[in-house]
Amino acid sequence: MRKLLLLILLAAGFLSVRAQDVSLTKGWKLAIGDSAQWASPTYNDQHWQAVNVAQSWEQEGHPGYDGFGWYRIHVVIPSSLKQNAFLKDSLRINLGSVDDNDEVYLNGKLIGRFGGKTGDIKTGSFYGPRTYTIAANNPAILWDKENVLAVRIFDTGGDGGIYGTNFSIGMADVMDHVTVNTEADFNYGERNSLSKSIKLITTNHYDYKGKLAFKVTDPETKAVLYEKTNDAAFSVGRPFTYSFEIARLEKKSYTIVYTFTDEKSGKEITHTETTPYLLTPYPSAKPKINGADVFGARPDHPFLYLIPATGQKPLTYKAQGLPDGLKLDAATGIITGAVAQKGSYPVTLTVSNRLGSKTKSFTIIIGDKIGLTPALGWNSWNAWGLSVDDKKVRISAKAMVDRLSAHGWAYINIDDGWEAEQRQADGKIIANSKFPDMKALTDYVHGLGLRMGIYSSPGPRTCGGFLGSWQHEDQDAQTYGDWGIDYLKYDWCSYSEVTPANPDLPALKKPYQVMRSSLDKINRDIMYSLCQYGWGKVWEWGAEVGGNSWRTTGDIQDTWRSLSSIGFNQDKAAPFSQPGHFNDPDMLVVGKVGWGPSLHNTRLTYDEQYTHISLWSLLSSPLLIGCDMGHLDRFTLNLLTNDEVLAIDQDALGKGASQYLKKEDYQIWVKELKDGGKAIGLFNLSDKYQTISLDKNDPALKGYTKFRDVWQQKYVITTGKDFSAKVAPHGVMLIRVEK
Ligand code: GLA
Repeated sequence: MRKLLLLILLAAGFLSVRAQDVSLTKGWKLAIGDSAQWASPTYNDQHWQAVNVAQSWEQEGHPGYDGFGWYRIHVVIPSSLKQNAFLKDSLRINLGSVDDNDEVYLNGKLIGRFGGKTGDIKTGSFYGPRTYTIAANNPAILWDKENVLAVRIFDTGGDGGIYGTNFSIGMADVMDHVTVNTEADFNYGERNSLSKSIKLITTNHYDYKGKLAFKVTDPETKAVLYEKTNDAAFSVGRPFTYSFEIARLEKKSYTIVYTFTDEKSGKEITHTETTPYLLTPYPSAKPKINGADVFGARPDHPFLYLIPATGQKPLTYKAQGLPDGLKLDAATGIITGAVAQKGSYPVTLTVSNRLGSKTKSFTIIIGDKIGLTPALGWNSWNAWGLSVDDKKVRISAKAMVDRLSAHGWAYINIDDGWEAEQRQADGKIIANSKFPDMKALTDYVHGLGLRMGIYSSPGPRTCGGFLGSWQHEDQDAQTYGDWGIDYLKYDWCSYSEVTPANPDLPALKKPYQVMRSSLDKINRDIMYSLCQYGWGKVWEWGAEVGGNSWRTTGDIQDTWRSLSSIGFNQDKAAPFSQPGHFNDPDMLVVGKVGWGPSLHNTRLTYDEQYTHISLWSLLSSPLLIGCDMGHLDRFTLNLLTNDEVLAIDQDALGKGASQYLKKEDYQIWVKELKDGGKAIGLFNLSDKYQTISLDKNDPALKGYTKFRDVWQQKYVITTGKDFSAKVAPHGVMLIRVEK
């Protein structure tokens, strides 16, 4: 066992192990449509479609379907559940996740509902996990007999139905409503140490008293680095806090398991988390220019570019060879103006500080194309959902300029939830009270050198139930132009209501062509981001309808299951990636996310987050940070500011990586780069450490002599015939090979 310093001040832990629960994973049936009879236990559902509730109904044979659907399952609820439970008051039904709104019937009786604005199941988007709790003496429960559980769902847009992993019936027991809250950030100390406080919290009226076991293991060697058990007690309003420090850590993740065992009931709860480790080297104080090598704008359209540069402040900027019409602010590095003449303009950018100067060749291309490299920015959705407001956007913009724009991050995009209930009398779209002055907000964002994005739907309503652009496309594009918007995410949502069912290819393209022509009438460069979840192989025609990017999938979640099933299935779309037109496997789920208003740390492990950013960069995906920018922790910031990783995403060739090798538990993705090199990701899809090797004579590597570890920004010395890397579970080794 390694020697390790550890200071225990106090203690906590969670997540119940419920072996006796009845699983509801298998046996579900689905019918599309709506009928009151479907709640009835006597209704014969034998002819219904058997479905896998792990995935949405789109993936279960109903692509593009929005509207009503019902799920039913027949299940025996044994009274032994009650007998074995310590608390015998309530039955708890875990229904995975629901998209969007639902009502739940047990043997024909309504036992719960969730979602729907002001109670109307057909409005709003309240997708997410569902757990229903009912009194154990509720007569709807038939103990030791067959019960029929029926779930009525309304999907307002995008993916729909039941999905996820957590399907079971059990008693709400001692450890329900107990949380091991590990949300606090880790602190980084000397001797590679990490410290943190966690809390044991409950909303149950029960006095918890017992032991908290704390265990740190190295997942590679299985060695237990630290093990300690403490007394712990907590009750409502009196959480138990446990603080610890672990030191002399290597550059990898360790596993921490917290287990609290309650003395009286004998019940326990466990919670696991991993430890962060930083790979991106600390930025140098010397000046350096980062970001893409090219930037495209249309003639005569307002131009805005902030030169991304790191180094000790103050920095001063110079630009040689700027085309007529552009000027640079030497103190801020912001280039503004407009260029009349089409052409490719080579520019030399210089940034200086008291430690020296650095130049970079940069090309401004004035022509028909914009978005020559994928957008780098922030979008409100994965953090704030419909609770986004002016203040959160301003905080994000300020944080971006203070901490991220030096690395090329530039867009501040408002997603759904900004629109007023009604248009003005003249049909003009206006913002709701959360956005008192959209023009002023945009001016603020522009003043920082950043660009502003907004969201709408071609349908009458957005996925969140707000106003869409249906039959107001020209007017909305004009309004966006007046406000100074630079990016539009255009989300299919309720467009299904105004187009025939099962739309064919022309019908799928149509709403995007309509808005394209509206945007073309505006004197602005507005990045056009199509969002229709990949239907009709949008990657094959997204560029043709004028999209700068197009979503290739349904909505991402902050789980390995979601991340890996999206990310490692981009091989078909990848060949269509090109400058100005990129595949979008959805926004980043790093940092504090939550789809608003309350947030949690991403449930991805740190290695999974390295995989996320590496794979998305290899795919030339837009990188849209989806977290609370007001609370960027040290790991997240380190993850998002690696200039060599971002350079792979921003490579001017614009290629999407190909799935070069696909094995059961590892994959290799290869991306060609503009300078003739390649970026290669060796991904470990398994739960164990493994060594991934590639023969140096393999066509992917042949002719290349230098191997650079991109995250650590250093060359790797390799001997022998293979390039080999030891890769953490769900982790990655990202390399760039050079001649
Ligand atoms: C859909 C999109 C999401 C988000 C929401 C907003 O689900 O796929 O990215 O924009 O709508 O309601």
